[in-house]
This record gives sequence, structure tokens and C-alpha cells, in this order.
Amino acid sequence: MRTAVLSDIHANSEALRAVLAEIDAVGVDEIICLGDVIGYGPDPLTCIDLVQERCALCLLGNHDFACRTHPVNFNQAAREAALWTRFKLDTAWPDEAARERRIEYLDHLPVRIRYAADPRLLCVHGSSRCATNEYVFPDDLEDQAKFDRLFERFDHVCLEGHTHMPVVFEQQLRIDEDGTEHTSYQRFVGYREESRAPGPDGTGTIRGAASVRLRLGDGHKYIINPGSVGQPRDRDPWASWAIIELPGEGDPTVSFHRTYYDWHRVLDMIRRTEHDDNCPYQLDEFLGTRLERGY
Ligand SMILES: [Fe+2]
Repeated sequence: MRTAVLSDIHANSEALRAVLAEIDAVGVDEIICLGDVIGYGPDPLTCIDLVQERCALCLLGNHDFACRTHPVNFNQAAREAALWTRFKLDTAWPDEAARERRIEYLDHLPVRIRYAADPRLLCVHGSSRCATNEYVFPDDLEDQAKFDRLFERFDHVCLEGHTHMPVVFEQQLRIDEDGTEHTSYQRFVGYREESRAPGPDGTGTIRGAASVRLRLGDGHKYIINPGSVGQPRDRDPWASWAIIELPGEGDPTVSFHRTYYDWHRVLDMIRRTEHDDNCPYQLDEFLGTRLERGY
């Protein structure tokens, strides 16, 4: 079974459409989303509709929650974006049925779920111990106590997003002859260190250009973050996502993928929110310019 894992789409329908096209080209059995479908970007309604239509499962992200309730502990740009998104969700008339369907969908997203196709996989947006809000950054690896606590909370694999940084953490357990346990962790970066230029014709994708593949041995435990579809922060603007392969026998594998999309169109959409006289909020231009930088 092949499962595409998406996260942090952030209302970027250009990136989401490009990734879905790539997924359709490579072929998977199922798509799952680890949350933050909306917030930041200019096209929340399309993103909700596409995720609802294409994803077998979607988790609640902190931005999904904030856009339905009230943004707390957000910086100014994120706060205003959440209020703008909430306004768009609430005023998406004239199609009242679609408005209600989207709100119903968002309000029932789970915060923590075991993946039905393989219950050894725990799915959250943030972390195994704080499902919606805790960040687990690549550099947190120095904090052994944090990782000990995080890895206690699941059986084999924890799929999580939230940081917008693609990464795999592996826990290795060694037991001495006298019974003493030693736990160590290592990190596999799911992306290239250098940033890449757009595709040769300015559109389309280079399939598997940054693909990194790892075997998930049964004796170890793993945290896997596919990175962000709609707002990567690892200095590579291409949309980031992953495929988990669950063979009938043997160890699962994970591969990381990057997909090109036209971020200039997203920046244009963000700039146009300034001219919407019916809405009391607008999106900060910074939310569009950062897409090109990839952080
Ligand atoms: Fe996010």
C-alpha cells in the first residue's frame, strides 16, 4: 500500500493542485493530510474542498482551529490571516450548502488518530504528546529528554507536520548484557541543503528530484515530518510531501518528494486581498514573498 502524506497546505491551492497532479502521475492508494489546510494563504475554500475530496484522512492543525475559533499566540500576520480566513469561511455565500459542509468538515477533524491501514502509525499535526501545538524541529535533537518523552507515546511511527521542515528522527534502543537500556537518536534530513531553481519551462515538476528513501526497521521507532505543501520553510520553495509504502511483509519505507508550482500566482492572489472592500481584514504581502524564499 502506498500512502501520500501531505501537511501544512495553508490555503495554497496552486501548490496543492501541483502536488495532487504529481501524486496522480506516480500513483498512490490513499492520501492523508496532517493538518493546517488553511491559514496564511489566499485560497482556503478550494483547499478545504480538495482535501475533503481527495484525502482519506485529515488531522486538525493549529491554524485550522484558529480560523474556526480565535487566533491565540499568533504573530500579527498569522493572526490577521486567521481572521481573514474566518471571514471568508463565514461569508462564502451564495452557496450556503458548501459553506456549511466546509465548516462541518473543519469542526470534526480529529486531533490524533491511528492510521486505519496500519495502526502502528500515529497521525497528529504537532507531536505525539501535544497533538496540535508542539513543534519538533530538526535542531531539537540535542534535547534528549524531549525526544524520550515524545517517543514514549507511540508504537512504531509518528507522522507529524507543524514545523514545515521535512525530517525523519530515528530512535535506536540498545540493551547491554546487564540489562541497562541505552537510547539514542539520529536525524535524516528529508531535503537537499541547497535550494533549486524552478523547472526548465517555469512550470511543471521534476519528478523525484529530491527524493530520499528510508527503510523503517521494525526494531526502531520513527518520527516522520513530510514538510509543508503550501509554505515550506527549509529554504526550498518547492512543495514538500512524502510517500509511505506499507508492504504486506517487511519494513515500511518513506520517500520525500518536492514539486514545483507557480508561487508568483499565489503572491498575486494575496496582493488582491488588499482591494476587497467587503472584508475588514487582508493578507500580509510577506505571506506571499516568503514563498519564493522558501522560509
Ligand atoms: Fe502550519
